[in-house]
Amino acid sequence: MIRPNTSLPPANATAKHSNAADDRPDSGGFLPSVGLLALDRQYATLREEIRAAIDRVCDTGRFVLGPDVNDLEAELARALGVPHAITCASGSDALLLALMALDIEPGDEVILPSYTFFATASAVTRLGAIPIFADIDPTTYLVDPSDVQRKIGKRTRAIIPVHLFGRTADMDALLPIARDSGLPVVEDAAQSILSTWHGRCSGGLGDVGCFSFYPTKNLGGAGDGGFLTTTRDDIAARLKLLRVHGMEPRYYHQVVGINSRLDSIQAAVLRVKLPHLDAWTTARQANAARYMELFSQYDLEGRVTVPTDEPRGRHVWNQFVIRVAGGQRDALRAHLTACKVGTEIYYPVPLHLQKCFAHLGWAKGDLPLTEQAADETLALPIFPELEPAEQRTVVGRIAEFFQAPQTHAPADSTPQSSALPPEGPHFLRRMKAVGRADDVRC
Ligand SMILES: Cc1ncc(COP(=O)(O)O)c(C=O)c1O
Repeated sequence: MIRPNTSLPPANATAKHSNAADDRPDSGGFLPSVGLLALDRQYATLREEIRAAIDRVCDTGRFVLGPDVNDLEAELARALGVPHAITCASGSDALLLALMALDIEPGDEVILPSYTFFATASAVTRLGAIPIFADIDPTTYLVDPSDVQRKIGKRTRAIIPVHLFGRTADMDALLPIARDSGLPVVEDAAQSILSTWHGRCSGGLGDVGCFSFYPTKNLGGAGDGGFLTTTRDDIAARLKLLRVHGMEPRYYHQVVGINSRLDSIQAAVLRVKLPHLDAWTTARQANAARYMELFSQYDLEGRVTVPTDEPRGRHVWNQFVIRVAGGQRDALRAHLTACKVGTEIYYPVPLHLQKCFAHLGWAKGDLPLTEQAADETLALPIFPELEPAEQRTVVGRIAEFFQAPQTHAPADSTPQSSALPPEGPHFLRRMKAVGRADDVRC
């Protein structure tokens, strides 16, 4: 077994956050554990503000919608440069509301990637419509516009590109396809808040954008939540009606909507966090750049493919997903788990092969690039507070698995992580609440 990190400083040399008792490097110079997430680190930097915000809401006794929700919507619209931001109870509901606002009906077809979280497709099926799955680009994992084009038929009523892992789908290709076919575009931007395409934020590129405040997202709440964006006044008005049972005025129902309102406590917490989102995003970008630099130091060619940045816009790195060739993904993951390095597989079973969609008639082999990605990809820790020593441990452990020699000396130019918060308070260190892979479902 090689010891790939021995030419680097001890991997724990700069670790600020781990429990002191665990700080000793093991025999390979690695940190004893690296969590997939560490939500406690972010909370530690904002703890007093968040608790004060929650207290303020409790004092008012106004727990659903209300002033904090209105203010959050205005702040989100400003941050994303869109005229309308409308909150709701989850990212899943955002997708459902978007399709309801576009009058998607039973029997309609909606084109979307199969390589995405379940909610993208379930929104379609909950309306009795039919998801038509498209394959992906194998380098970006994003929906392949040419396959979308091929799948447009007489019953197609909408297209849902998913800006997966923090990267905007190829809107240069998708928007003209949609326009020429007269189809609305619903952007699933649940994983991509603040990602851009030629300088414009995702969510403001198509007809409607759908976002999630699930705690592991780049802007995560203290529970479920979501929001929609649109540049269209007609859709904004409809979304506001649909999220409150179609009720306007009180107890007079114009249409049948759903109950999907954001809690005031969530809005208050999110308002504390939103001003930090840009810095957290920059820290994610720095972590991605550091991973690229660290992977380039080892001879892993042909075994690990590292994701690339997006030249046409801002990639916000909700996930850093590598591809592991040669059927070795699961063995690598088992090795990393044994070394207490957190990872996750997004997504092991593509949607077209899920049991609940068997009646739609898709079979293995229908979307080969999607199926290959499901077999080969692995997400590594990328959260903003991740430390260089932790990243060295992650990459060193991967090199250890492949017995890959270190072929390049570590570069001095490895980017410095910005926005590392101070060490958390004592009670948090004791909790060791570093996030587990099974906390993460999307
Ligand atoms: C791509 C994608 N779409 C939709 C959703 C649904 O969001 P939520 O969990 O807030 O319902 C998620 C994950 O949460 C997601 O990752």
